[in-house]
Amino acid sequence: MRNDKLKHSDIDLVFCYHSSMQSFDTDQNNTIKPSESGSLLPVCPVDALARGTLHRFILPNSDELVICNIDGEFYAIDNLCPHQGAPLSDGAVFDHVVECNRHGWQFDVRTGNCLTVLERIKTFQVRVVDGVINVVMENQQDLFDL
Ligand code: FES
Repeated sequence: MRNDKLKHSDIDLVFCYHSSMQSFDTDQNNTIKPSESGSLLPVCPVDALARGTLHRFILPNSDELVICNIDGEFYAIDNLCPHQGAPLSDGAVFDHVVECNRHGWQFDVRTGNCLTVLERIKTFQVRVVDGVINVVMENQQDLFDL
């Protein structure tokens, strides 16, 4: 393991709140804004996610994503490792790679490709609007399991 890796457990708790954000645990229509190419799901203010950190984010359908800040650029991938389901948000991040902390599988956050075995995880577009990180949901199925 490289010395310059930053483990999620080394990071203080990230409290994500912005006055433009609302809880989404009740009304399905209260936080999702349409965009040209999908629905925007607000995650947290840009300032709440420091460079080199990972942030677990739960979709309304209970699927989990991990949002990554890599040198000021934001990426979103599935949170559950396809090997044995460990949360990637508990892993380490370096360059454009997230490493699962359970057995070390590595994933490129730009493509979702696993660098360890022939495997791939889902990636999501991320868009920053008015200082808030949003995940772009192309498919309503990803949101509510219709
Ligand atoms: S659970 Fe992630 S590498 Fe095994």
